[in-house]
Amino acid sequence: MSNMQVTNSSTTLRSAAFAPSNIALTKYWGKRDARLNLPLAPSLSVALAELGSLTIVQPAADLVEDVMLVDDKPLDDAGMVKLRRVLDIIRQKSGSTLYAGLRSVNTVPAARGLASSASAFAALALAASHAYGLQLSPQELSVLARTGSGSASRSTAGGFALWHQGQAEDGSDSFAEQILPPEHWPLRLLIARVCDERKAVSSTRGMAQADTKSLLFAAWIDQCQRDVVDCRAALEAKNMRKLADIVEGNALAMHATMMAARPPLLYWRPATIAVMHTVRQLRSEGADCCFTIDAGSSVVVLVEPQDARPVADALAAIDGIEEVIQTRIGGGARLLPGGQD
Ligand code: DP6
Repeated sequence: MSNMQVTNSSTTLRSAAFAPSNIALTKYWGKRDARLNLPLAPSLSVALAELGSLTIVQPAADLVEDVMLVDDKPLDDAGMVKLRRVLDIIRQKSGSTLYAGLRSVNTVPAARGLASSASAFAALALAASHAYGLQLSPQELSVLARTGSGSASRSTAGGFALWHQGQAEDGSDSFAEQILPPEHWPLRLLIARVCDERKAVSSTRGMAQADTKSLLFAAWIDQCQRDVVDCRAALEAKNMRKLADIVEGNALAMHATMMAARPPLLYWRPATIAVMHTVRQLRSEGADCCFTIDAGSSVVVLVEPQDARPVADALAAIDGIEEVIQTRIGGGARLLPGGQD
């Protein structure tokens, strides 16, 4: 990030940005550097059109520390540590010493495997870099978002995004880019939310547990390297049957790695398994759909538009499914007007 440009180090603006959440088709689950969120393998994702985070950043001379409200509540301590990490990089690059007041609203249901951290850190990176007068390239923006949360690197890019593993120790080549626009394959996404009272183990913690302590870990990372290549080919060819093998196989392999960790991690509820079987049954009957699961109990289903309605209805009828949210694939992070009023 050495070549970031500073427009005017003494100028700060009130800035607002929206960033989408994203769902990995081949997963990021294992770090080569936990502080910089550098992955051990590349990963591929799709951005969720209107589900994400809207963040407003206002640097101010009268603040004695950064203040962040998320959905009107103060951000927790673990979140503040990550937030400060991103803001400190921006302050260092811009030459500003000002703290900032921040507010964020999430339109993505938190926890249960639908992480809001990807959209939150992507929106933060864009709004805050703009507020402090930095003009970042798409690559630099993705790198910055990644330092808050690994998967946020893919939310800045949007569409079908590929997060390059990178080799550099400082992480400057570990960024995501849009490899195909949303309109390339206008699939629908169905989020089947599973009723689950438990507080899910966070991805950050779960990953730390899996990568050092799962007997399947090395094989999992090897598989990811192959899956990214095959997944990209299936996306380019818009081949749902091929995509289903890779996407479902990759998600199940990640969960197998979690289950084989010590202590083992088990995110699924009975409804999670019921959704997986239903999707496979519907596919065998001709519906073009496949599922994936992040670090939680909820399931995301990718489906061709013409099959979206019957598949959504079938998922909603499953015992233990709270709701089925339908969305599309969308673009990346963007600045919003109204940041300065
Ligand atoms: C299962 O990006 O939330 O959703 O880098 O520690 O913030 P940190 O983890 P995070 O992990 C996401 C894990 C996943 C898979 C994925 O999105 O690729």
